[in-house]
Order: sequence, then structure tokens, then C-alpha cells
Amino acid sequence: MHQGLLTRYIAYNILKKLRNKALSFKGVFSQYIKKYDLDNSDKKMIQNIVLNSMRNKINIEEILKIYIKKFEIDNNSYFLLLGAITQLIYLNFKPYAVINSSVELAKHPKIRAPKNFINAILRKIDKDKKKLLHVSGNYTKLPNWFKNKTKKWTVIDKLKFIKTISEEPNIHLVFKKKEDLNKINREIIKTSNNSGVLKKHESLIEIPDYKFGKWWVQDYSAMTPIMLLDKIKNKKVIDLCSAPGGKTFVLVNKGAKVTAVEKDNERINQLKDNLLRLNFNCNILNSDALKINEKNKYDIVILDAPCSSIGTIRRHPEIFYRKIFPNFNKLTLIQSKLLEKAKKLVNKKGEIIYMVCSFLKEEGEIQIKNFLKKNKNFRIEKFKITNNFKDLNNLIDKNGYFYTQPKKLSNGVLIDGFFAAKIINNDK
Ligand SMILES: C[S@@+](CC[C@H](N)C(=O)[O-])C[C@H]1O[C@@H](n2cnc3c(N)ncnc32)[C@H](O)[C@@H]1O
Repeated sequence: MHQGLLTRYIAYNILKKLRNKALSFKGVFSQYIKKYDLDNSDKKMIQNIVLNSMRNKINIEEILKIYIKKFEIDNNSYFLLLGAITQLIYLNFKPYAVINSSVELAKHPKIRAPKNFINAILRKIDKDKKKLLHVSGNYTKLPNWFKNKTKKWTVIDKLKFIKTISEEPNIHLVFKKKEDLNKINREIIKTSNNSGVLKKHESLIEIPDYKFGKWWVQDYSAMTPIMLLDKIKNKKVIDLCSAPGGKTFVLVNKGAKVTAVEKDNERINQLKDNLLRLNFNCNILNSDALKINEKNKYDIVILDAPCSSIGTIRRHPEIFYRKIFPNFNKLTLIQSKLLEKAKKLVNKKGEIIYMVCSFLKEEGEIQIKNFLKKNKNFRIEKFKITNNFKDLNNLIDKNGYFYTQPKKLSNGVLIDGFFAAKIINNDK
């Protein structure tokens, strides 16, 4: 199989696997990378095809309905067409290469899709591709579990959300020092004194100062709640769910004495590599946060809890693409257990910062309500609003929580959905 065909064959297989299994794109992609000898441009092409196919699933299904009276999803033709239409319409790949390789793949013994049908559909789609770029699936086409959880959203909320999900994520850089942000030789839309989005996409290692560790990548929403913490220099902080390290980096950069806890062995290695590149030091504990010693107390406990990750849907389009939906019972149970653990680790008058990259109430506000009901000696403190952060006024809600659905800031930068609460221990 030549390289162009092999990359598309791998993309097809990943798409098929992700639809049927509760796996992440990152995990499945890395399995294939290990199995085949691929160069960087092949890897990039596979990533582009798979991620954009998943992001555009509901749009592509609308397109297929125009050309096929009764199209079936989840058969081999469907996965082949999903990838091919993405290449033609959203990635603007050369039509002859896309059509020829799709027909070749249709003949593959492990695919066996009707090649004449694939050929005919793709030719028609290629002819109409300019107008098809504007065909889009609406909110009603999202998975039922998600629609049930967002029933109360207004029509405007739904429209705004649907617009964000097929967008490619931007690269939001957070700089150790604001001078380095001002000096970087790239066009950047600033989101705070220390952060901004690159106007043009490029691979991270090509961005200036990568190897000097002057910046890291972290979404505006994930960065801001920790950036807003005041006077934390030399404070004793524990970050209970820390890898790959975004929150830890902000804390260390602000001079806190950080212990970073992470239970996953692979992810802790990513954390260590990242800390090394950034030349940051902290104490690292490869452990289950629920099992750590409660004798040691901390001024601040950071809990960036495992969650559905629905706020990061652009980066994790498999959440909507998969047949299997997130196990909310399991997730909310672990979130509340970790909150109870955080309570036992925080000093008197100390604070817990609870966060999830989700905008669903049951993972955010409801967790906090339940916690406060059981723990009368804790209260919420509002995140401080400062002018340094773009549009912050609109991101702190009436309860004082940092809360947002994925949306555009007034400078056009698209940010992830997120929830964060600052919980203070009132004990004297
Ligand atoms: C949302 S991610 C954390 C992201 C990280 N704070 C950052 O900013 O880069 C949640 C992390 O918690 C870890 N985790 C889940 N359960 C855990 C537990 N019981 N103890 C420690 N880590 C846990 C997961 O492996 C995952 O790396």
C-alpha cells in the first residue's frame, strides 16, 4: 500500500474504532503510530482527517441525505465517505487523490464497500463542494444524552454552541513573563497580559522559544481561575489531579510551593517532561489522590477533577461522535469523593479550587451545592475580577463562579467551556 493510501486506511480504521468503543482519539492514534512507520506529515494528515471528520459528523450526515435517499450509518461505506467528504470539503485536498484512494480502499478485503457507488457519490459531492460547505446539522442532530442535559438552554445558546463545535481549536499560549509575550515574533491576539492566541496555526516546536520553555499551551478558560488567585507566593499548594500540568505551571510560575499529584503513570511522565521543558520545579506524587496522607495540610487545594470534558468538545470531538456516552454516575461520584478528600487536606482558613472542563450543572454547580450542604464550615468566595483578563466580567457569574460555555471573547478568540469555584474553609 502506498503512503497516501495507508494514511487514509489508518484514518478509516480509527474512525470506525472510535465510534464503537469508549476510547479517546489520543489513545487510539498513539496505538496506530506505534504499529506503522509514519513520518510527521502522515501523522498530521491522519489527525486532520479523523478529528475534522468527527467535528463535522452532523454536517456530513446532512450532506449525505442530499445524495442518498436512505443512507445507513455505521457500515463500511459510511466511514469511508465520512473521511473522504471531510478531505474534499473541509480540508480541500486534491479531489482526484481523495476519490481514487477511496475507491481503492473500497476494494480492500477488510472494507469491501461498493466502489462504483463510492466513486459516483464523491464525484457529485466534489462538483457541488462550494455550496456544500454551508450545509450544517443543527442542535437536534446532537446525541440524545446531550440534548436531555441541555433542555433548558435558550435557542440562542443552542445556536451559539452548535457554531463552535466544528471549529478547529486555536493555539492559546501562556507566557511565564509578559515581556516574552510582547517580544515573540508571531502575530498574536492577546487575551491577558501574559497570554494570547496565535493568528496562524503551526506545530508547537516551530513556535519561537519552545525549547527555552518560555510558554506553554493552555486554554484561556483553564488558565484564568488559577491566574486570578492572589498572593500565593510561597503558599503550600497541592494539585490533586495534575497531569499534564497546566494548572501546576500557573501555580509554580506564581511562586507557590506545589505538590503535584497524578495517578496515571503515562500522564505523570507527560507532566515530568513538561516541567523539564519549562524548567519548573515542584514536588511530584504518583499516587491516587484519594489515598494520600491527610496529616499534611495545605493552604490551597486545587482539584481539577476528571469530568465529561464536554467544554473541550473541539479538542475532543469523539465525545459526540462515539455511540457510547460519558458515564455521568461514575464521574460525579469520583468528583464528590475527591471534593471530600480535598476538604481533609485544606488548612483552616485555606481554600479549595474546584474545577471541571465542563459546563454541565451536575459536574459543576450541583457538586458545589451538595458539598456546601454537607459541609457548613465552608463558603464560596467570588473570583476577583481584574482588568488584565479579556471579558472577565462576563465570565464570573452571580454566585462568584467562573462559568462559561464554549464561546467567543469580544476579540474573536474562541474559549472552552469551563466551571471553577473557590471554596473557603471558615474554621478558625
Ligand atoms: C482534568 S485532568 C487534569 C488536567 C490538569 N490539571 C491540567 O491542568 O493539565 C484530570 C486528571 O486527573 C487524573 N486523576 C483522575 N483520578 C485521579 C485520582 N483519584 N487521583 C489522582 N489523579 C487522578 C487523571 O489521570 C487526569 O490526568
